[in-house]
Amino acid sequence: MEQKNPGAVSSPACPFSAETQEKILHHFDHHSSLYRDHSAEALKLLRDQAPVAKTDAHGGFYVLTRYQDVLEAARDDERFCSFWGITIPTNKAPWDRAQTIPIDLDPPYNELFRDMMLPLFTPKAIDAYGVFLRQTATKLVDAFIEKGEADLARDFGSPLTALFTMELAGIDHAQADFYASTIQYGIAHPGDPDALARMAEARGRVSREVAAQKDNPRSGGLIDYLFKARVGGRPLMDWEIEAIVWLVLLGGVDSTQATISNMAVHLSDHPELKQRLIEHPDSWDDAVEEYLRLVTPQQGLSRTVTRETSLGGVELQRGDRVLMSWQAANLDESVFPNPNEIVLDRKNKRHLAFGIGKHRCMGSNIGRLEVLIALEQLLTRIPDFKVKAGEAELSADIGTVKAYKKVPITFTPGKRSA
Ligand code: HEM
Repeated sequence: MEQKNPGAVSSPACPFSAETQEKILHHFDHHSSLYRDHSAEALKLLRDQAPVAKTDAHGGFYVLTRYQDVLEAARDDERFCSFWGITIPTNKAPWDRAQTIPIDLDPPYNELFRDMMLPLFTPKAIDAYGVFLRQTATKLVDAFIEKGEADLARDFGSPLTALFTMELAGIDHAQADFYASTIQYGIAHPGDPDALARMAEARGRVSREVAAQKDNPRSGGLIDYLFKARVGGRPLMDWEIEAIVWLVLLGGVDSTQATISNMAVHLSDHPELKQRLIEHPDSWDDAVEEYLRLVTPQQGLSRTVTRETSLGGVELQRGDRVLMSWQAANLDESVFPNPNEIVLDRKNKRHLAFGIGKHRCMGSNIGRLEVLIALEQLLTRIPDFKVKAGEAELSADIGTVKAYKKVPITFTPGKRSA
């Protein structure tokens, strides 16, 4: 952490020099290394001093850091729309058709697609996914449990979520590593030409997959489901199917493995909490909820202002872009006391890790289940795991998804499952 400048006008808890504070308050950039290394402190400074702050980064946008302001923007699709892209910088021009469905669409169109997709996310469907997930998680741990060491990102969190996403989508499991590594790299290197080329290759592969399955249907899974589904009484067009599958791949292979890697690093750093969880399996669901809140894997997404309006006392114009920081909202101490701690008996579970409103995450219960199953495996099969000192490696850019790309651990070797 940088040295505090004695001349800085800062609260005792603020770790930043006056110059850095100025940078955060007026030139905030969630894709910067400053954000990567000090995100919670930067978001707190903004929330305390400029909760609807204007920054000149990436062509200019406002960053929302209070829970109430994030909630207000996310719930009001009429004033804050998604169609102009939901990332900053945007990857979509206003005249482009939706790249990912339903997330890039506004009501009522997104609701047509959302309603059509709901049967894939019922509690019964999720119970069935649980069987696949537990078997897969067990096999993955079996592959390294006798060695006494592993990389939890590479050997566990990433393959677990990627294999499940292939199963859900109806894509050959052999493609799991390609999609996971490409998408994780793309999200962690926004704007990088190599990352863009790799993402384009993966997106092209989705088009070819949909075309191939049209000729040779593969029963079960999302693609098969979408071929038979109707929106507004008509079959889906191929580009719509591709945009839905692409979104499920994006949502499926990154945010959940990010939660697992963050949770593992935190547990390793907090052995007393780990021990308490080992002794109290009844608090695992609470732990999952708290990890989603504390590390908020999907850090924030954006909306575009559709007409002159005000938010948090700040006047906004049509076309202005706002970044809704789910992470900042989840660390807002006026809503979540002791926000930087895992509080297992916290009563308020209304965190915004899955967003809120008409675009709230459709995969939230799947994400929760995946993280719970990962926690079960870690605490019951390799309970004394420890991250190798100084070897956990955060992604190059955490502005969109906060993930560790490497989590090397050691533990007492155990036995493969029967
Ligand atoms: C811990 C894991 C996850 C987190 C933190 C997460 C986070 C989010 C967030 C914040 C949104 C809201 C987007 C917005 O407001 O613009 C969202 C939407 C979405 N997520 Fe997730 N997600 C996770 C896992 C998943 C999984 C596993 C899937 C699919 C299997 C999934 C599929 C979706 C879809 C389809 C949407 C779009 C919903 C819509 O626009 O109506 N997510 N997710």
